[in-house]
Amino acid sequence: MTRYLLILEMLALTICTGCSHHAPPAPALQATASGSALAVSSGDKQLGTPGAPLPQPLVVDVNDDQGNGVQGALVKFSGPDGVRFDPAEALSDSNGEVSTNVTVGDSSGRYPVEAITTDKKGKALHLEVNEMAAGYQEMLGYQVQRKYCSRCHDPNSTPEQVSNYDNLAVAPHSFDQGNTFNKLDDADLTSIISHGGPAMNLSALMPAYGSTLSKADIRAVIAYIRLVSNPPFEAPGMVYAMR
Ligand code: HEC
Repeated sequence: MTRYLLILEMLALTICTGCSHHAPPAPALQATASGSALAVSSGDKQLGTPGAPLPQPLVVDVNDDQGNGVQGALVKFSGPDGVRFDPAEALSDSNGEVSTNVTVGDSSGRYPVEAITTDKKGKALHLEVNEMAAGYQEMLGYQVQRKYCSRCHDPNSTPEQVSNYDNLAVAPHSFDQGNTFNKLDDADLTSIISHGGPAMNLSALMPAYGSTLSKADIRAVIAYIRLVSNPPFEAPGMVYAMR
């Protein structure tokens, strides 16, 4: 009788190894190779909705000393609280690429995320990439600047979004250049955008938008500039609050 029960138990165990709710955790990924550099392929500097997945996956390349893709290197992703990655780690494919879907946190702002891999000597290589979550006003500002400003302020010209940046006699700054924009307070920015460069002794190549854009549009563009600023913009009020 006892023997019979034992056989039954063993049978149940064997069957249950296949049960999904008893499935053991997926085995840890094992790197079969290692690279010597990490680079962004695509999907950095995206603007997403708070708490939602970004529109494009983040794709990073694992390269060897010659800049060729390495297959089989383990890449792990990490970010601030509230940021999720699917998958959180993966092995690079035959092009040396690893792709992950990033969900940003619940509040609007900048989300620095990291891709990490280990080189041949066991040293960790870090790659920092910035993603962003934009609230309503910042998203509006993004659209306004795409329509009116990026044709001069965006250093990257693409077929979809042509930029004249390289052909301007005086180079404007791309809006993420915090070292320039953080020195200008909201009143300065409003004045340059409304009245053009000469309002702040800058070049007249910077046109006046006071009659094209509403005050709300201008405030939205400024909110966007503050959001994408790198190094981050610290509003004067925030600094006082911290003291
Ligand atoms: C036709 C090209 C052109 C367009 C379009 C344009 N800008 Fe500019 N902008 C410039 C140039 C050139 C400068 C640099 C002026 C200087 O340094 O003397 C500049 C400077 C600025 C500055 C001062 C900081 C800096 O980059 O040097 C701000 C702020 C600015 N622009 C905002 C905007 C906004 C916002 C828009 C869209 C609403 C816009 N610009 C559209 C050409 C342009």
